[in-house]
Amino acid sequence: MFFWGAATSSHQVEGGNNNDWTEWERKMANGKAQMANSKKWPDHILKNYPNPTQTENYISGRSCDHYNRFCEDFDIAKQLGHNAHRFSIEWSRIEPRDSEFNEKEIEHYRAVLKALRKKGVEPFVTLWHFSLPLWLGQKNGASNPLFPNYFQRYTEKIVSEFKNEVKFWITMNEPEIYAVNAYLLGRWPPQKRNIFSCYGAMQNLVKAHKLAGKTIKKTNASLSVGVSTNQVFFESAGSPVNDLLRWAADKIWNFYFLNKVRRELDFIGANYYFHNRINYGFNKNLNKETSDTGWEMYPEGIYQILKNLKKYNLPVYITENGVADSSDKDRGLFIADHLSWMRKAIREGADVRGYFHWSLLDNFEWDKGFWPRFGLVEVDRKTLKRKVRLSALIYKKIIEASGLNK
Ligand code: BGC
Repeated sequence: MFFWGAATSSHQVEGGNNNDWTEWERKMANGKAQMANSKKWPDHILKNYPNPTQTENYISGRSCDHYNRFCEDFDIAKQLGHNAHRFSIEWSRIEPRDSEFNEKEIEHYRAVLKALRKKGVEPFVTLWHFSLPLWLGQKNGASNPLFPNYFQRYTEKIVSEFKNEVKFWITMNEPEIYAVNAYLLGRWPPQKRNIFSCYGAMQNLVKAHKLAGKTIKKTNASLSVGVSTNQVFFESAGSPVNDLLRWAADKIWNFYFLNKVRRELDFIGANYYFHNRINYGFNKNLNKETSDTGWEMYPEGIYQILKNLKKYNLPVYITENGVADSSDKDRGLFIADHLSWMRKAIREGADVRGYFHWSLLDNFEWDKGFWPRFGLVEVDRKTLKRKVRLSALIYKKIIEASGLNK
């Protein structure tokens, strides 16, 4: 069976969280809004509420209130033809204090899983998608050498609770993006800018995945373990120097983590957003078409990354692919084009078993806040009312016509 669906993450949609991000958002929001004020923004983005120049844009707050509205949201997903859904469990809810588990929150996620199962929607569960419990943030998060052990303890708890409800487990989301943004570029909490911290965090994440993977298999060997990695299509503009740079970029960005953890993997999760053309320097893209976030839209890249991953001989799920498009003028074609390139990769032997669009809902886009609109479903920021976008219906038609489930 081919899995079709959308993805979300706890901190981005739930609302009412209390974790390292919420703390950081409160500290940063004013400054971010002020900085945004001095930039030039296109009108259609300033029309958004909240727009980037407003403080509330940068505070996740009640977000989409998905914590309380998950049933309604899954109904929408089901109506849109989805037979699978990827979401993450919020570590800070489960373990609000070091080694203290909150049984009430465990029951919450049991209800979430039950709601999906009842609708015949297969859950893909991410154990950790960027946000950390406060106590762990205070203990230096992913750069703490004990991080892998903390992660294992949390994994053990969750998997022992939900081993019968969940088959597909994604240990973590985009370890490379996380390590770089949090420890090298200073963009995300804890805002370090240090290559050694970044390398150290990356090593801890490798260990954390391995321990978690082993824990999941020990609980039940038939459970399926994966990780979602950010896969970039690096393209050389030609010349031996560019080819060499491409080779190195692939090796470091796309393959480093996977090579380290491949023995603890049953499948690869690939998040595809970026094409990076190398011409004596990185990001020399032609940028013929760009989204609200200024990212190039480059559908062929999904085919290239899938070909690139064939060497691992593992099933691949596209665990994220999406576009910030508040007017929904490009998303329909974006989906159609990416899926037709994905089909080409499948015809040529790539073992792709599912596609999850990012995202089901407009949500809190980390350091950028609410203004980028990635949802198949629009969320009115004042009323939180959901409205299905036309592109979601296009995706539905493609799913129905795909034949991949027959
Ligand atoms: C992350 C998501 C994020 C999306 C769009 C991915 O890197 O996993 O959390 O919202 O990209 O930026």
